[in-house]
Amino acid sequence: MTQFDFGTLKSRYTSFLSRRDAAKELVKFWDNPPGPGVIELAGGMPNAGFFPIDSIDLHVVSHPFEKNHGKNGLKVHMDKQEPKDMPLSMSLQYTNTEGMGPLVSFAKKMIERINPPAYGGWNVCMANGSSDAMYKVFEVLCDEDSTVMLEEFTFSPVISNIKLQGASVVPVKMQLSADPEQQGIDVDRLADLLDNWSVGPYKHLNKPKALYTVATGQNPTGMTLSPTKRRRIYEIAQKHDFLIVEDDPYGYLFFPPYNPKEPMNNAYWDDKSLTVQKYVDDYLVKSFLTIDTDARVIRLETFSKLYAPGLRLSFVVANEFLIERIFNMSEVTTRAPSGVSQALVYGVVKEMGKKYSSESEPSLDSMVTGWMEWPMKVAGYYTHRRNVAFKALYETEGYSKGLYQVMEPSAGMFIDLKPCWPQNELSRPDHYDLIIEKMDKLNQTLLKTGVQVVLGYRMAVDVKASKDTCDFVRITIAYANDDQQIVEACHRIGKGFEAYFSHI
Ligand SMILES: Cc1ncc(COP(=O)(O)O)c(C=O)c1O
Repeated sequence: MTQFDFGTLKSRYTSFLSRRDAAKELVKFWDNPPGPGVIELAGGMPNAGFFPIDSIDLHVVSHPFEKNHGKNGLKVHMDKQEPKDMPLSMSLQYTNTEGMGPLVSFAKKMIERINPPAYGGWNVCMANGSSDAMYKVFEVLCDEDSTVMLEEFTFSPVISNIKLQGASVVPVKMQLSADPEQQGIDVDRLADLLDNWSVGPYKHLNKPKALYTVATGQNPTGMTLSPTKRRRIYEIAQKHDFLIVEDDPYGYLFFPPYNPKEPMNNAYWDDKSLTVQKYVDDYLVKSFLTIDTDARVIRLETFSKLYAPGLRLSFVVANEFLIERIFNMSEVTTRAPSGVSQALVYGVVKEMGKKYSSESEPSLDSMVTGWMEWPMKVAGYYTHRRNVAFKALYETEGYSKGLYQVMEPSAGMFIDLKPCWPQNELSRPDHYDLIIEKMDKLNQTLLKTGVQVVLGYRMAVDVKASKDTCDFVRITIAYANDDQQIVEACHRIGKGFEAYFSHI
């Protein structure tokens, strides 16, 4: 494994920085912590005695949707002395911009255990959610003449993030397939696009600096790139020298295959031998980091979908040089993520770690194992909801009449539905030119039947380039109160499709 030192990374990756970033200098008005015996008179930090909160007690549920207010679950007590390595007197104080030491160490251990990078010389920086992290990443990388590739359908705010820098976005064709080997970025077309850049549709743009990908449980399509595709994409990145920005909010929410004959089978619940290690080894798809021999991958992880979005807490993993640039960006913008959020996460993972430790101070390893039980449980509940939704969608009249297809996702919280256009519509030469009007009408009909969905075309990087594949609607299984509401919503969808097709 190559161990990169900072200097090598700096000379290798400086050319990827935006001109703004390369010119940015930090002005620091005081020096690092004084030595022992020196009285701190420098920083404008209120003494912890000024904080109105003395302690926080958390009641943690033992599984999602537990009804008894966490009575069976863990109790976490935090005060100005506890936990010793990250007490409230520290986390309610101004804290390190890169994140508080113990939590950063926890995040590093998570990466080492689950997705170890294939090189030495990487680092972690906490951020205020992946939305914040991606803003910082593209601010660090992009100028007006930069180009970034994205999956043709994507988490749309990232498009705005890139365009905010004046940079250009280029959609990469996807295969919207149920076959796990086929799903996601069309690798042949990606290779072709880059090999023939100078004569292709984007020849007026510079060759891309980066590919942004939601590689697992993609938003909005639910597709996951297979390990083989990941390796091929990495080779293409090496050949054409671009960075891979892997945004992975859904990777821990992986679905076992759906069995239409036994729709409620749920490996997370049925497999009595399931352990955290088995979940990590057999269920989860490995990050691009694990094949990153060149230090060219920037991975974004977030606590939003696994713990709570209101924390606004996430972390970035990349080579030490790029992490330093992202850190600098935080120094001049957000500074550290909320100390309260960091305390809520660290206090809980530490308590969870005690189950796997004989010591009162659990090791980082035990904390990672203890914490990973939670995403594993969350994934079990999402799998159950996926089952409930599929069963309900497949039992509607609308589905039996062949009015829509279900694009089965492999992870995450979204299911996409594709209208099956009748032959007379498909044979109209202007069918796909009118696709937005048609999808808007479908949306209105679905709203009338009482469901709100997201239209695929509104998550397209370039609607024109994706006009013949953007005719899907995205629904989420995440927000419903219970199974009954999911079933009701799916039945309404069936009725909505029937109503729509009876009028076209
Ligand atoms: C692909 C993707 N990235 C990032 C986010 C936002 O994450 P965060 O809450 O950490 O900002 C979302 C949320 O919907 C998402 O789908």
